[in-house]
Amino acid sequence: MSRLSKKYIRLLPFVLLVFSSCKNETADYTKWENYAGTKDGMRYSALDQIDTTNVTGLQEVWRFSTHDKDTTGKSQIQCNPIIVNGTLYGVSPASKLFALDAAAGTPRWIFDPAGNDSRSGRNPGNFNITRGVTYWTDGSDSRIFYSAGKKIFAVAAGAGTLIKNFGHNGWIDLSEQLGRDAGPNPYITGTTPGIIYKDLLIVGSRVAETADAAPGDIRAYDVRTGALRWTFHTIPHPGEKGYETWPDTAAWRKLGGANCWAGMSVDEQRGVVYVPTGSVAGDFYGGIRKGTNLFANSIVALDAETGNYLWHYQTVHHDLWDRDLPANPNLVTVTVNGKKAAALAQITKQGYIFLLDRTNGKPIFEIREMPVSTKGLPGEEPWPTQPVPVLPEPFARQQFTAADIFSIDEAGKAELTERFRKIRYHQLFDPPSKEGSWIFPGFDGGGEWGGAAVDPASAVLYVFSSELPWSLTMVDVPRRNASAGQRLYNQHCASCHRPDLRGDGSSFPSLANIADRLAPAAIKAVIRQGRNRMPSFAGLPAEEITSLVAYITHQQEKEPVSDQLTGASGTILDQVPYMMTGYNRFLDKNGYPGIRPPWGTLNAVNLNTGKLLWKVPVGEYAELTRKGIPVTGTEGYGGPIVTKGGLVFIAASKDKKIRAFDKRSGKQLWVADLPAAGFATPASYMVRGVQYIVIACGGGKIGAASGDEYVAFALKK
Ligand code: HEC
Repeated sequence: MSRLSKKYIRLLPFVLLVFSSCKNETADYTKWENYAGTKDGMRYSALDQIDTTNVTGLQEVWRFSTHDKDTTGKSQIQCNPIIVNGTLYGVSPASKLFALDAAAGTPRWIFDPAGNDSRSGRNPGNFNITRGVTYWTDGSDSRIFYSAGKKIFAVAAGAGTLIKNFGHNGWIDLSEQLGRDAGPNPYITGTTPGIIYKDLLIVGSRVAETADAAPGDIRAYDVRTGALRWTFHTIPHPGEKGYETWPDTAAWRKLGGANCWAGMSVDEQRGVVYVPTGSVAGDFYGGIRKGTNLFANSIVALDAETGNYLWHYQTVHHDLWDRDLPANPNLVTVTVNGKKAAALAQITKQGYIFLLDRTNGKPIFEIREMPVSTKGLPGEEPWPTQPVPVLPEPFARQQFTAADIFSIDEAGKAELTERFRKIRYHQLFDPPSKEGSWIFPGFDGGGEWGGAAVDPASAVLYVFSSELPWSLTMVDVPRRNASAGQRLYNQHCASCHRPDLRGDGSSFPSLANIADRLAPAAIKAVIRQGRNRMPSFAGLPAEEITSLVAYITHQQEKEPVSDQLTGASGTILDQVPYMMTGYNRFLDKNGYPGIRPPWGTLNAVNLNTGKLLWKVPVGEYAELTRKGIPVTGTEGYGGPIVTKGGLVFIAASKDKKIRAFDKRSGKQLWVADLPAAGFATPASYMVRGVQYIVIACGGGKIGAASGDEYVAFALKK
C-alpha cells in the first residue's frame, strides 16, 4: 500500500469487493477504516514505520480547522476519525462532517447538517457529541453514516452530498420507530457511531438519565434504504428473555435507558455484534425497577444478521451508580494456562476488566458474586451481590479513605478533611444514601468512552484511567409546598445545575442570576433546544416550561402550588422520591483532586495472565512539578492506541499534549504540544508510504479551553 498510483485507486473498488465478499475477513490492522480502528475494537495499528528508535523525530505535518468551536459554550470534539483510501473523515465541534486529503490535511468537502435539518429546527451549534463516523461500501457505492442530534445522515463518501433515497431524504430519525409511546418529542441522539455488518448499520443511542427516558433499544437499518431491519429490546417485552428480571410487568412500557452509547464491536467471522449497555434511567433510585434489570449494564451478544439474542453477561446488577459500560469491547484472542480462547475484554468505569469467552459469555478468569451492602434508601432494594473479577487486576484504585486525602497546602487539607467526614459510605457498591457515598473511580471513570487498546500479538490491554473521587448524596424530592416549577426543576435540572441553582462552578453554569442575563423567551429556547452538553427538553409541555422559567427566575411566588402538574409523563417521575444533589468532584480550592496522585494514568494489563504490568501518570501540572511534586497525571478523556512499532499514543490529559510511551515498559518516549486538549482517541494510518498519527483537539471539559483543530504527525523525511 505504499504507493497508490491513480490506476490502482481506480481498481480499488473491485479489490474491496473481492475482500468484502469473502467470509473470513480478518483485519490486518494496517488501516483505520472504523471507529476504534477495526470492527473488533482493538485500537491497534500494525504500522511500524514510527517505532521506539525514531519516535523522537515525529513532527507535526498538518493542522486542519473547521473554525467552529464555541469557547463560551465549551464545545468539544470526541471524534476518532477514520481514513479510507487516503481520505480522512472527521466531525467538527458543530457536528460538521468533513473529508480531508489525509496526507496534506486539506479539505475535499464539508457537509453541514444545519442546512439539512429543517425538520428539527435546531441551530447548527446545538448538536450533540459525535464520536466518529461509519464507512460502508459495496465496491461501487460508498457511504458515510454519522449522527447529528437525533438524525443519522447518509452522505456520499466521494462527493460529500446527501444520499436522498436513504431514509427521509437522506437521513433516519432515531426518535421514530421506538416500538412504544415515548412522549411527543423524546430526547434521543447518536453519539458513538454505528457499526456495519454486511448491509446493516447497527446503532445505539444516548437517551435521558431521568426515569422518563426513551427506550434504549439496539436497532439495525438497511444501509441502502434506511429501512429498519431489526430491533433488540434492551428492556425485554413480554415473552422475551430477561423479562422475568423485572417484577413490574409494564417496565418495558414505562422505563428507558439500558442504551448503548459507547459503541459496539463485531466479529465478522462469527456474525456476532457485541453490545455494551448502560444503566436503566433514572440512574440513582431503583425502587421503581426492582430486580437485576436485564439487559442493562450488560455485554449482550446478538446475531448481527437478525438481532437475535445469543448470550449476555451483566457487569452490575440493579445499577444505582450510573455504571454504564463506557466503551466498545476489544475482541482479542488470549492464551490462558496454555489454552487459546476467542475472548472479549470489556473495560468499566469502576476499573474492572471483564474478560469473557466471546463464543458463550463465560468468564475466562473467575468472577465472584461478592456480597454488598443492601442498606438502601426506603423503597429501594439494592441487589445483594455484585460481580467482581478476580483477574484481570483492576486498572484503577477503588477505595478512598482518609489516608488518601491530599492537598498541597495544610489549610486546603483541613478543608478537604472536613468535607470528607460528611460523606459516610466508602465501599464500591454502597447504595446511594442521604449520608452520601464516594463514587470512586468517579462517574466518568476509571474507564470511559476513549476505550482500551489491545496489542493482538501480546494480548496486552492499554487503558487510560482518571483517578479522582466524586460524591453522591441523595435528598428527598420536595413534594408538599413545592411549586410545580421547583418540582420540575428538581426532576430535570438539579442534577447538573444543583438544587440551589448555583451550578458546580465549572461544567454546569449557575442559574442563580439567570434573569439578569437572559430574557424568559431566551431561557425557554435553551430549555427546548438544549445547548452543547445540556440536553434538549423539547418534550416538556409548554406550561411546564413556563413553570420552570418562573421558578429559575424567582417568579415562583406568582405561580400556583399545584399537585396536578408533576412531570413530563405525569406518572413515572412522580414515583421517584429522591434526587441527587449533583455530580460532585472532590477537588480542593485550587481545583486539584483532593486525593493523593496519580490523577490520570495509562495502564498496561496482560490479558493472558490478568496481571497489571505497569501504570504511569499521563499529563502534568507544570506548577506542581516545579514545586518538586512528582508528575501527577491529570484527569482526562480519550483513549490510547497501540502500534506494532512498539508505541502507545495517547493525548487525553488536560495539559494539551500528545505522548508516546514504550508499550513494553511504559516509559515516555515523545511528547508534543497540541492547540487544545486532545480529549479524543488518536488514529494511525499510512498514505503513500508515510505513517501518520492524528488527534482531534477539542478540549471543552474540566477547565480545558475548547478547540477546533485536528493535528497530524509524521517522521521528518
Ligand atoms: C446534563 C446536564 C444538564 C441538565 C440536566 C440541564 N442543564 Fe441547563 N445547562 C447545562 C450546561 C452544560 C449548560 C451550558 C451550556 C452551554 O455550553 O452553553 C446549561 C445551560 C443552561 C442555561 C443557559 C445558562 C446561561 O447562562 O446562558 C439555562 C437557562 C439552563 N441551562 C436551564 C436548564 C433547565 C431549566 C434545565 C432543566 C429543564 C436544565 N438546564 C437541565 C447542563 C444541563
